[in-house]
Amino acid sequence: MLAISASLAAAILAFLPSASAQSAVWGQCGGQGWTGPLTCVAGSTCTFSNTFYSQCLPDGTVTTTTSVVGAALPTGTSTAKSNTVAKSLGGKLYFGSATDNPELTDTTYKAKLGDNTLFGQITPGNSMKWDATEPQQGVFTFTNGDVIANLSKTNGQLLRGHNCVWYNQLPSWVSSGGFSAAQLTSILQNHTMNVVKHYAGQELHIDAADEDAWDVVNEPFNDDGTVRQFVFSEALNLSYVTTALVAARAADPKAKLYINEYNIDSAGAKSTSMMNLVSSLKAAGTPIDGIGIQGHLIVGQVPSKAALIANYQAFTALGVEIAITELDIRMTLPETPALRAQQQADYTTVISACKAVAGCVGVTIWDYTDKYSWIPGVFSGQGAALPWDDNLAIKPAYDGIIAGFTN
Ligand code: G3I
Repeated sequence: MLAISASLAAAILAFLPSASAQSAVWGQCGGQGWTGPLTCVAGSTCTFSNTFYSQCLPDGTVTTTTSVVGAALPTGTSTAKSNTVAKSLGGKLYFGSATDNPELTDTTYKAKLGDNTLFGQITPGNSMKWDATEPQQGVFTFTNGDVIANLSKTNGQLLRGHNCVWYNQLPSWVSSGGFSAAQLTSILQNHTMNVVKHYAGQELHIDAADEDAWDVVNEPFNDDGTVRQFVFSEALNLSYVTTALVAARAADPKAKLYINEYNIDSAGAKSTSMMNLVSSLKAAGTPIDGIGIQGHLIVGQVPSKAALIANYQAFTALGVEIAITELDIRMTLPETPALRAQQQADYTTVISACKAVAGCVGVTIWDYTDKYSWIPGVFSGQGAALPWDDNLAIKPAYDGIIAGFTN
């Protein structure tokens, strides 16, 4: 289990699914479009029937020549390529993935990540964050971030910088330094300028759309829409957001500058706060180009396509683009055919909502394989959130992504 701070724990709690009922014996427990329970009462087992229907069969009635659930896990079948389809049929700029330095020693993983028909964009999961890039005041280290920036160049992929300022993974010299508001402003300017400028020289601006981007500000709000309290907001309220955006624009006038947040997929207090912030930034002439919707979602609990579209449109109506920046759709383990089928439908819902909104420029999954997902280390007993399994084989979720971009 990873060590987590109290503030991170609070954020994690916000992700946890509420306890949901279980289906009765003979009841439905999965299938495309099914929004009810995905597990069965004790004494029965959720058994895959077809893509549209799974049922709680009493234990003992399930054919046991082999382990039915285990043996019947459906796999992905699509031969279409996710980035190719995102661009050609989805009308998007890319389909991408996060990655991280430790897993790049896995050559099979790295080869697939480098296939730009699958992934047209990559985001470093950790190596451009503050603790990685300025671990001591004024001492900048770009080694790991450069590895990923260079990968994007070698592979002809867009690069998403992540991130300049976040309450988490912030070194203690910043958070506990006892600095004044003026000093913190200067520290934030200096950090953002140095990091964004370093990668401005290394980015590959592939096409006229020039869509390399930075998550300049990460997770500024609590789930109830109030301003998340940490060293910068405590001293400066939301003016730290302006400070970071202005510095980032000066450092790289070409990059799209984003504010990135989770639990803003559909309407709610947090989405409203994000809209109010972006409106006020636009009104003040502060550089802001996009809202990043992280999209850490739960199988069977994804908002409807209509609700997603309405919220995406409310964001783009402010005059900014949006991107789905960290998509994954997790489940309570073990995987079952029903959960895989529901996850396939859930991926289609999110991707097709992005397709339906012109200002949604692309979709990034938060790594592509369950082998390297952050979920099991943080949400005990949960996982299998990504479209490629532990063996790097596609799951039905992949077919769901292709369907979302295609239909
Ligand atoms: O670098 C240390 C290493 O020295 C140490 O040996 C090791 C032991 O656990 O920990 C390493 O740090 C870990 C770090 O990832 C780098 O691997 C941290 O423990 C671990 O907590 C950290 O997790 C990252 C997490 O952000 C931190 O909150 C995940 O990999 C990363 O995927 C995740 O990404 C965030 C986005 O940035 C923002 N949105 C949510 C998303 C998921 O939490």
